[in-house]
Amino acid sequence: VSGAVWAVVPAGGSGSRFSSSEDKLLADLNGQPVLIHTLHRLLQIGGLQSIVLVAGEHTLAHYQALVENALPDAPVRFALGGASRRASVYQGLLAVPEEAGVVLVHDAARPLLPIAAVTEAIRRVKAGQPGAIVAVPVQDTIKRAGNPGEITETVDRQGLWRAQTPQVFRQEILRQAHRSVPAETDVTDDAQLLELASLGPVALIPGAESNLKITTPADLHLAEALLRAGLGS
Ligand code: CTP
Ligand code: MG
Repeated sequence: VSGAVWAVVPAGGSGSRFSSSEDKLLADLNGQPVLIHTLHRLLQIGGLQSIVLVAGEHTLAHYQALVENALPDAPVRFALGGASRRASVYQGLLAVPEEAGVVLVHDAARPLLPIAAVTEAIRRVKAGQPGAIVAVPVQDTIKRAGNPGEITETVDRQGLWRAQTPQVFRQEILRQAHRSVPAETDVTDDAQLLELASLGPVALIPGAESNLKITTPADLHLAEALLRAGLGS
């Protein structure tokens, strides 16, 4: 696959598990808002042409001003998101030019993305794989709960991975996946759309435990500690 690599960055959520009043993407992480960390690190990916930042109607103008101030020369465009992560990603995708052969989707809430793994995922997609996502193998023993809080079985962890972002795709295939999976189908990541539409296979690229998603305030403290210890790369 030739053509440029574009990034779609969904940032249109409400961060309800983080706080009812503070925007988690604007929370301070060692001197910079989480969102700026994420964009700054994405911009270090070799061959990345442009970023489409997808925001909600109440945050779009503010994010735009923030990015213009913190990263004045960065190739960042803006799009208005939707009610679900999936809808926001689709809106972002519509702002990517069709000649971009490769698109990567990355959660704004993951500031510590691993550059080397992303670079490998892009290489795999350019070499012909429909999609490649950054993920980590499950290391804990996995239990299924029947009644809340009571084990019914131990799930074999062999072959289980935790999906993270970035998730990289041939743009044409990701667009087709969005169009073919009914809008009401609930998905929790982008690769799942290719799985449901039989448009894969999607490769798993080993990422890093440090690539955490800021979901609760405790995650922000963990990210701070990882950055300070130099482990967030
Ligand atoms: N997201 C989005 N549009 C939505 C919902 C989520 O662009 N309608 C984005 C979030 O901004 C985030 C990413 O998708 O960068 C992953 O979502 P998550 O971590 O769940 O964030 P929120 O949905 O904002 O948080 P919560 O689920 O706690 O409300
Ligand atoms: Mg959410």
